[in-house]
Amino acid sequence: MKIVRTVDELRHHVAEAQGQGLTIGLVPTMGALHAGHLSLIERARKENSLVIVSVFVNPTQFNNPVDLATYPRTEEADCAKLEAAGVDIAFVPTVEEMYPQEDTRVFDLGPVAEVMEGPMRPGHFNGVAQVVSKLFDFASPTRAYFGEKDFQQIAVIRRMVEIEGMDVEIVDCPIKREDDGLAMSSRNVRLTAEQREIAPAIHRTLLSSVAWAHDHTVDETRRYVIDTINSFPHMEVEYYEIVDASTMQPIHDWADAPMAVGCVTVYCGDVRLIDNIKYIR
Ligand code: PAJ
Repeated sequence: MKIVRTVDELRHHVAEAQGQGLTIGLVPTMGALHAGHLSLIERARKENSLVIVSVFVNPTQFNNPVDLATYPRTEEADCAKLEAAGVDIAFVPTVEEMYPQEDTRVFDLGPVAEVMEGPMRPGHFNGVAQVVSKLFDFASPTRAYFGEKDFQQIAVIRRMVEIEGMDVEIVDCPIKREDDGLAMSSRNVRLTAEQREIAPAIHRTLLSSVAWAHDHTVDETRRYVIDTINSFPHMEVEYYEIVDASTMQPIHDWADAPMAVGCVTVYCGDVRLIDNIKYIR
């Protein structure tokens, strides 16, 4: 595996691969890698001849400076995992390399970015679009892999690809969970032992809401999830929205969307956890 730190070097390897007609799979990450990330990499490995994984904690997508400062940085361990996963290139740039000057681009992300995480984390999705558009430019991927854990992020990236006219296939990958159902996340290590024990209630509640939805309205199902999760100690729902899986817009009747997805963010103590579940009619 090559560890590449500059854009020029990355472009050089990409041009070489393109010259040989190779397909390129890109997996963008912010490091602190866990089995969730590795499931994306495994899929990319199966479907492409060259696999590039980027490890970059992108400052422009953090609207909270403390969150940026405390984001785990574990480069050595990450590179060992990438090597073991059969990755060809780990792209590990510095902030100066990614942003030699300030990125002032404002993307017209439209309605998909105006709900849920949009208003909760102002500027977040624009920052994601900035960094992912740069990565797509540098790596020219045939396919890029994203996890459904960040369900809305995938919709935002699809929109970005559409408005920028980029030629890349966006591949969404299922949520990887711990044995007890908790969605894997770099933030889970910050939970206390007691919080860690309670946190799987998020996924359990979402699962039970699928059965509940069969004979309840969208609004009743929404209420059920919020009230059930809030009934656990340490847990407070920030939002729970049931949205059309393709437009991200909240629905009011199950007939409004062939596939709906319920997206939740929960504070477990001071750790912000996210998860989601599909309601398929
Ligand atoms: P990060 O949080 O490191 O996640 C990188 C990718 O891994 C994302 O596509 C995310 O959805 C996926 N992922 C995380 N946990 C997962 C899980 N339990 N199961 C499946 N996939 C999972 O998301 C970002 O970084 C950044 O916003 C990024 C896209 C890299 C732009 O900076």
